[in-house]
Amino acid sequence: MILNENSPKKIIPVAGGKGGVGKSVLSTNLSLLLAVNGKKTIVVDLDLGGSNLHTMLGIKNTNRGIGNFISDKSLTMDELVVPTDYENLYLIPGDVLVYGLGEISFEEKKRIIKGLVELDADYIILDLGAGSSLNVIDFFLISNSGIVVTTPHMTSIMNAFGFLKNVAFRFLQRAFADNKRFTEYFDRAFLERHPGEQKSLKDMLDELRSIEPEAVEKAELFLEILQPKIIMNMAEESGELSIAESLRDLTKRSLSIHSECLGLLFMDRQVSDALKERTPFIMQYPESVTAEGMDRMARKIILSKRFPEMPLELDYYKDSFELTQIEAEIDEQAREKAENSGYSPDEIDNLLKLVEQQQMRIRELEKALSRSAMGGNQGGILGQISGMSF
Ligand SMILES: Nc1ncnc2c1ncn2[C@@H]1O[C@H](COP(=O)(O)OP(=O)(O)OP(=O)(O)O)[C@@H](O)[C@H]1O
Ligand SMILES: [Mg+2]
Repeated sequence: MILNENSPKKIIPVAGGKGGVGKSVLSTNLSLLLAVNGKKTIVVDLDLGGSNLHTMLGIKNTNRGIGNFISDKSLTMDELVVPTDYENLYLIPGDVLVYGLGEISFEEKKRIIKGLVELDADYIILDLGAGSSLNVIDFFLISNSGIVVTTPHMTSIMNAFGFLKNVAFRFLQRAFADNKRFTEYFDRAFLERHPGEQKSLKDMLDELRSIEPEAVEKAELFLEILQPKIIMNMAEESGELSIAESLRDLTKRSLSIHSECLGLLFMDRQVSDALKERTPFIMQYPESVTAEGMDRMARKIILSKRFPEMPLELDYYKDSFELTQIEAEIDEQAREKAENSGYSPDEIDNLLKLVEQQQMRIRELEKALSRSAMGGNQGGILGQISGMSF
């Protein structure tokens, strides 16, 4: 029903509730990092109505995608897979060529999900749209490995929580579709919701416990299957991770969902610069603190033999949030160092390369000069020196 840690093929949906939090940037760069590490990876543009992954990968939008798959029943999902400029990385484009599909039918959704599950790859990354529509939630529920991207802003955190809440309700609704009393209770509770006095999912399960004790026990076990991974993006300082911890606590308390943290990335102007160049960020600024942060996330995914279980060395830190806190503090120091020197880490790298090149040229010149001092053509050498720019 839902791919879990036992599945060798990993489908990782990337969602977030709020628009513009960095879902597509992260889908693209994490996919590329998995591919760079030798894993066959397919990144799928499932943001129907807002497809833009081809742009991020610098690919022209002339290829058939999910839109064509929906409108042409004879197409198979693997016919949509296109190679990218990067080894091991493939793309399934969105609905740029066939646009305006809106909310798709349950049957169409089932066909898409079946097609995705049958694809041949080590990792399949799904870039989902913003919001909590049924499309987004059902794609998120293909596996229990989903990533939720948020920024430290309150609206983004609330949207991430609202998204996970809808995911939990939908998950239970599907799991208990044949239990009439359970579904009736949930449908009624959902309809009777009033702003400001909403019951939490946990409260509802507690209420149901006296009528349907077995079903509630089963529901709680089901909710344990979900293990969303939070990414805090566009942070200004490492202390903002505590906001993600609040999201974790709220999610545990009111939804009985246990979430982990995959990492934190700082606000970095170069992310938008790379986007303008239509080059994946990690290719444009591979030495940056942000690229290192993305690489750490990809490594956590690869190192986990049973993702979404986290590969944690719990002798050294308490949990995935504490690990992220340590990483974020190190990144923060690296950023401060770079800022204090007035150069970004990439600029420093470029400067170092330049200095190296110049030293090489000086050594060549010295050699040439000593050769000429031993009787060579001095005018020629001096001519060369004056023509060289340092
Ligand atoms: N860490 C970051 N620092 C600075 N800018 C960032 C960062 N991450 C993403 N951005 C920028 O935020 C903008 C939105 O990113 P992106 O398109 O990935 O978001 P999204 O969640 O996919 O949005 P949508 O919901 O519209 O699909 C882009 O301009 C991107 O360059
Ligand atoms: Mg997007």
